[in-house]
Amino acid sequence: MRTIFTATLLTLFLALPNLSSALEKDPQSGFIIDKDWALVKAHCTVCHSAKQVTAQRGTRQSWLEAIRWMQETQGLWRFDPATEDKILTYLAKNYPPSASHRRIPLAPSLRPVNPYAVAKKP
Ligand code: HEC
Repeated sequence: MRTIFTATLLTLFLALPNLSSALEKDPQSGFIIDKDWALVKAHCTVCHSAKQVTAQRGTRQSWLEAIRWMQETQGLWRFDPATEDKILTYLAKNYPPSASHRRIPLAPSLRPVNPYAVAKKP
């Protein structure tokens, strides 16, 4: 009885790490293969590695904010609404917020003062 119990536990234990890798991933980029993944790969690996994307987690809103930030400051192009919707749907579904990931950003009032911003000349 005890051996069976131990064997069952051991099997469960050994199977656990495999649960996370059950999702099929593109061997080249690491993107999870799901609807519109190739579209995301095509647009989101032009300037940086796919890891910059796959290491990140977020809600649809926070993914949208990341995209807007890149559009406003990093030269990312505008998407037509249908394309943007597909990209956001893919990202929010496959890279949603998770407890074990990056904490949410500090509130502006809690962040240290940026010395360069103060010293910057007009
Ligand atoms: C035109 C160039 C360009 C394209 C295309 C681009 N990015 Fe970026 N992205 C950047 C730059 C530049 C950074 C900042 C890199 C750094 O800090 O090292 C960045 C950073 C990021 C970050 C990290 C932000 C953070 O807070 O650390 C994420 C996530 C990201 N990009 C996602 C995407 C996604 C998703 C797409 C496709 C929709 C995309 N990027 C396409 C230029 C681009």
